[in-house]
Amino acid sequence: MIIKSISPEHIDEIVKIENDSFSKPWPEQILINYIKKPGFFCNVAISGENEDVAGYSISTLIYDQIHVFKIAVSRCQRKKGIATELLSDTFNFYEKMGALSVILEVGTTNAPAISLYKKLGFEIIRTRKNYYGRNEGDAFVMGLALDCYYQKLLSAT
Ligand SMILES: CC(C)(COP(=O)(O)OP(=O)(O)OC[C@H]1O[C@@H](n2cnc3c(N)ncnc32)[C@H](O)[C@@H]1OP(=O)(O)O)[C@@H](O)C(=O)NCCC(=O)NCCS
Repeated sequence: MIIKSISPEHIDEIVKIENDSFSKPWPEQILINYIKKPGFFCNVAISGENEDVAGYSISTLIYDQIHVFKIAVSRCQRKKGIATELLSDTFNFYEKMGALSVILEVGTTNAPAISLYKKLGFEIIRTRKNYYGRNEGDAFVMGLALDCYYQKLLSAT
């Protein structure tokens, strides 16, 4: 499995993963707009001989804070460390540009994603009520200080 920057040939597979992963997926054109937007970092995990897209993430840097907007992994490739690799690649990319922290929103009932973020060292900062629409679910705002993330990595090696 390798992590690389998104290119146009990955879009179709990303759209399939997006539609299969979210109850309110972003339409293809919105995904394309984000991927092309200057200042946005988008990476993909590529696996197998056919170079299939196994997962992707989309993020940006605002001042010294990374904002992760999207991360998803193909259903059949989950629990193999792919999301962890995509986020690690994202943090390393922005750390060189002076990023100090990471922030994201996650559904309060999205146990796999919350567990992923907690494993990386994220903490819940607050809850945003009705983040996904009225009566459609709340979100946790989760944050991570990058120095804690790298310290944790060092102590695990
Ligand atoms: C959340 C998601 C991106 C995780 O991707 P993944 O590649 O399977 O994650 P990883 O293999 O890197 O998992 C790392 C850790 O996250 C946690 N985790 C991941 N999936 C989990 C699950 N189904 N149940 C419980 N914990 C889970 C575990 O702690 C795991 O470590 P472990 O394998 O040592 O137990 C994936 O489930 C997904 O695409 N979900 C749908 C889209 C989504 O919800 N995106 C997040 C929006 S905020």
